[in-house]
Amino acid sequence: MYSEMKSALQKPTRKYTYREVDESEVVSALEDIFVIRPQTLRNICKHFVDELTLGLKEDGHTLKMIPSYVSHRPTGKETGSYLALDLGGTNFRVCEVYLEGDSKVRLTQKKFTIPDYAKCGQSDVLFDFLADSVLTFITENHIPTESDIPLGFTFSFPVNQTAIDKGYLMVWTKGFDCKDTINKDVVALLNEALARKNVKVHVTALVNDTVGTLMSHAYNDPGTFVGVILGTGTNAAYVEKVSAIPKWKGGPVESGEMIINCEWGAFDNERVVLPFNKYDQKMDEESTNPGEQTFEKMISGMYLGEIVRQVIVELVQRRILFGGVSSPEIETPYKFETAYMSRIERDHTSDLLDTKMVLQELLNIPYPAPRDRRIVRRICELVATRAARLSAVGVAAVVTKMERVEDGCTVAIDGSVYEHYPHFGNRMKDALHELLGMFEENVNIVLGKDGSSVGAGVIAALA
Ligand code: BGC
Repeated sequence: MYSEMKSALQKPTRKYTYREVDESEVVSALEDIFVIRPQTLRNICKHFVDELTLGLKEDGHTLKMIPSYVSHRPTGKETGSYLALDLGGTNFRVCEVYLEGDSKVRLTQKKFTIPDYAKCGQSDVLFDFLADSVLTFITENHIPTESDIPLGFTFSFPVNQTAIDKGYLMVWTKGFDCKDTINKDVVALLNEALARKNVKVHVTALVNDTVGTLMSHAYNDPGTFVGVILGTGTNAAYVEKVSAIPKWKGGPVESGEMIINCEWGAFDNERVVLPFNKYDQKMDEESTNPGEQTFEKMISGMYLGEIVRQVIVELVQRRILFGGVSSPEIETPYKFETAYMSRIERDHTSDLLDTKMVLQELLNIPYPAPRDRRIVRRICELVATRAARLSAVGVAAVVTKMERVEDGCTVAIDGSVYEHYPHFGNRMKDALHELLGMFEENVNIVLGKDGSSVGAGVIAALA
């Protein structure tokens, strides 16, 4: 099977020895590492519920459980036109959100790619880039700027929120790293950048994407109690009773409810219950934020491809895969994108021809034999299934914390992994069933597309 490879490698000075390990042996060793059994899922879920409760008690715990200052869910009757700016994933978007008042929304949007220099440089560079993009959008769409336009700012990173329009960045995630933004009010930074560019727009609400997703879906489904993002990063927000938030010091809240941004990406940073393995460890050590966002690193789109790459690299080094032949691409961190995994899992040809294309053309592996393609596909399946099952744990824990397992609720999920990764939703559902039994049917999981941007508009309307 590897004759071509062998001859290519058998240079006169070096005797090449290749040991073809039995495919099933390789796969079952990987399964031992990546499969999460139902009992483990249940243990993780129990710990998750305890951590949610702890984070509501006082500051300083692993789950930050940040009160969002959003205490009213929409009625669907809100109307008006609002600007929304959505920063937090791979793309940055500026939108105009039209709330039509009968639970209907129209959206005009423009996507921008954030250059790497803006992600990791000085704060001003990033915020000037955001202000410039707002200016471009307003100009292109002929939006009148005589009066200050209200803008909802979806900023999807952990912030210590102290008002609906004020929040101090605690830590960057998802590869962003502008050091001088830490502990600064990001709304003030954006307002200053807008003023520098003479853009007559005023930030009236600071919103996490999970809160936006919840609010946007609640605009047409009042049974929505949870918003989740499964994209570049991951997180969830849900509706909590103010009486269940001992750390809330913001005075009486008329509705008695508060949307809490869990910041669940940090779950189990102590590494007590999650089966964080040697590949996760390696990926974490080489990341911009080692030791942080443990749950996020096992679930979200930014990291899944990188975990797969770590496994492949090790198998190549041990000469178990590709006859021990690597490539500069496969050796480069983050070169194996999560989108490649989606493509490989969608490959239903008998010889895995598309998988071969991905490996040959995108990753420069000269001879990915059918056996190797099957192993790579199984690695993708294992890593993505683990992610889906852990995402389900998070959902089950939040619904349990809300005591809504029996009454049920809608959980709106947005993000590229949930929307585009094949079978992700079904795998989540299977795991939810293992966790909640027949009550799984009460948890109505729906796609909350564009929720993070629309939600910023809805919240700006309520603000
Ligand atoms: C951030 C969250 C955000 C999530 C999804 C995480 O890295 O900390 O604030 O909601 O990504 O975008």
